[in-house]
Amino acid sequence: MLDLNFSYAQCVANSERVSWRLDDVMPLDAEVDLSRPLLPAALAAQGDLIWLTEREQLVLNHLAGNAYLNLFQFVEEFILCTVVEHAQGELFGDHENIRALVRFADEEIKHQQLFKRFRVAFDRAFGRPHKVLENAAEVAEIVLSKSPIGVMLVILHIELMTQDHYTQSVKGNDDIDPFFALLLEKHWLEESQHARIDALELDKLASQASPEQIAQGFRDYLDLLAAFDGLLAAQAKMDLETFAEATGRALSDDENETLCAAQLAGYRRTFLVAGLRSPQFVRWTRAMRPAHTDELESSAARWSA
Ligand SMILES: [Fe+2]
Ligand SMILES: [Fe+2]
Repeated sequence: MLDLNFSYAQCVANSERVSWRLDDVMPLDAEVDLSRPLLPAALAAQGDLIWLTEREQLVLNHLAGNAYLNLFQFVEEFILCTVVEHAQGELFGDHENIRALVRFADEEIKHQQLFKRFRVAFDRAFGRPHKVLENAAEVAEIVLSKSPIGVMLVILHIELMTQDHYTQSVKGNDDIDPFFALLLEKHWLEESQHARIDALELDKLASQASPEQIAQGFRDYLDLLAAFDGLLAAQAKMDLETFAEATGRALSDDENETLCAAQLAGYRRTFLVAGLRSPQFVRWTRAMRPAHTDELESSAARWSA
């Protein structure tokens, strides 16, 4: 259905070639340098921030960068559950398939550990705790209650958008912190195989599903994105609380609202629009269900407004 030109075995071979060790990338005592932005402008707050001082703009960027990694740690919780379930479903079946999924699960745990280490080091360098979303297991349970195709579409969206973040905004960017860029590079290297495995799994699910089950999968996918948008709004609000404490700047209600909207616009562009508009995602979802193409684009347009 998706016309894929790669296999589980190729994904395993590629993954072995680019694999890295957690301690080599982020030793426990690694220090975070907060003298430069963490996120490139394309993935940070959107809108007119010129009324903030340079330091305040930097603080806002650091909070978005720290939250970015936490949000990945967060979504990787349900990605991990799904991948382990899929591996279990293949037991006594195709061994290459199981190997690819088990390896995928192992890498996802490593990514969570990587991001957690970074966040601990970030709090140390930042000098005060940054409030971030913490109910990952609860959210995973809600996500996993949806149809398998809906969940797999969300995972494919996330893992394709990770690649676009790196290749379009981070790679070769000399303005941002090189260590943060390295973390995103290492993540991207392994995620590029995950996205292929997602496509193989999605293709398998879709080829066994009725048209109504596929349509339900798309509805679930959009419902999950809308729920995720609520989490992004909650994160933006928490960022602003930490921003006020860290900078000591007393914002008027209007200023607070403007800044919160700018931070949320950055998160929406990064986590929702980038996935919905990923060229590969558009191609594969169109092949699965052309009737939903316009709806996906109108969601992207709404969140990028
Ligand atoms: Fe990951
Ligand atoms: Fe992944």
